[in-house]
Amino acid sequence: MTLRRKIHELLDPSSHAHEARQIRLLGQIRLLEVMLILVGIGSVSTGTLENVGPITIFVAATCTGIVATSFFFAYLVRLWIAPEIARFHDSGPAAARLRWALSGKGLIDMLAVIPALATLWGDARLGAESAAVFVLLWVLKLATDAPGIELIARVVRNNRSALTAAGVLFFIVLFSSATLMHLIEGAQQPTAFGSIPTSLWWSMVTLTTTGYGDIVPQTTAGKVLGGAVMLCGIGVVALLAGILAMGFADEVRRREFARIWDLVARVPFFADVGAIAISDIVGRLRSHNYPQGAFVIRKGAAGDSMYFIVSGDVEVRIGSVTRTLGNGDFFGEMALLDRKPRSADVVALTPCTLLVLDVVDFYQLAGQQPTLVKVIEAEADRRRESGAK
Ligand code: CMP
Repeated sequence: MTLRRKIHELLDPSSHAHEARQIRLLGQIRLLEVMLILVGIGSVSTGTLENVGPITIFVAATCTGIVATSFFFAYLVRLWIAPEIARFHDSGPAAARLRWALSGKGLIDMLAVIPALATLWGDARLGAESAAVFVLLWVLKLATDAPGIELIARVVRNNRSALTAAGVLFFIVLFSSATLMHLIEGAQQPTAFGSIPTSLWWSMVTLTTTGYGDIVPQTTAGKVLGGAVMLCGIGVVALLAGILAMGFADEVRRREFARIWDLVARVPFFADVGAIAISDIVGRLRSHNYPQGAFVIRKGAAGDSMYFIVSGDVEVRIGSVTRTLGNGDFFGEMALLDRKPRSADVVALTPCTLLVLDVVDFYQLAGQQPTLVKVIEAEADRRRESGAK
């Protein structure tokens, strides 16, 4: 693998890193990036403070310079590795770099290095106020780099019809309350309610439940309308929150389902199970990573789940005898089948990724997929017979 490819896989979270070490390194780079952005935002914000000493100003300016310079080098690296991005594979290296530079992320990254260029070339000493403009860009950089932003965008996209309906409802209440308020209180409070556009401010503040209290209705009819708008405001906000919360839960569940499906495909035990049964099983499994040396099961503990090995090896310790289980094997079934405490210690010999099936799901599955559980039972019988021999 070329150096450019390696760096691309380290910097791009969508490059599907599977190895635990790679995922950890990716997380550390990401953390460093976020910390640099936060230090940059903090130092530029400090530079705009009044009544601070020269030392603080110096420290803030130095931090800003360091952060901006690192962004400058990070920009050059990203430009260099742009040909590795999958969607640019149909272009040559120069065209791929140009396409990345002109993409939304590329443009934000480029604008975010302007202070670095200015500082490096020394022809424009950045005043605190002009540097403040870049805070906005660094905040944007934080947003474009955050993996959660893509999730939010997808949730909004998936629920756009429900969100549009709630938005239309909001708009209707906003305009009708502003119009009614103008008719009711326009004469008493001409500055606040003299026209529909000026009344919109009160409607907006009330409907969003902000309630600055700078404008308040004075007539009885105005107060009654105010109360109704407040109630509508709570309703609309609750509706929007509900739509988004449901959307998030759905999206997270869908992603988790796809991830577990991917892991299940790597466990040979599930290879012969039909598609419908697999989707039933996938919905019940969750994945868990164990570091080397971790106890997955302790002898004598209550059995609350069983495990399928996706990757790595575990050691079953039955007294002084040990058995090694690897990819595709399962364990922890005996306590569930016999309804007894765990019969052995199970320790991770290498870093392991396991699929966990909780006891409740195990019993439900036993009812729905009897053939699958028969295979598990047969293996448990074999293990009982072999015992600690
Ligand atoms: P359980 O008793 O729930 O917890 C310990 C697990 O170790 C047990 O289920 C089995 O899955 C596994 N185990 C016990 N004895 C053996 C054996 N002889 N060979 C392989 N695995 C075993």
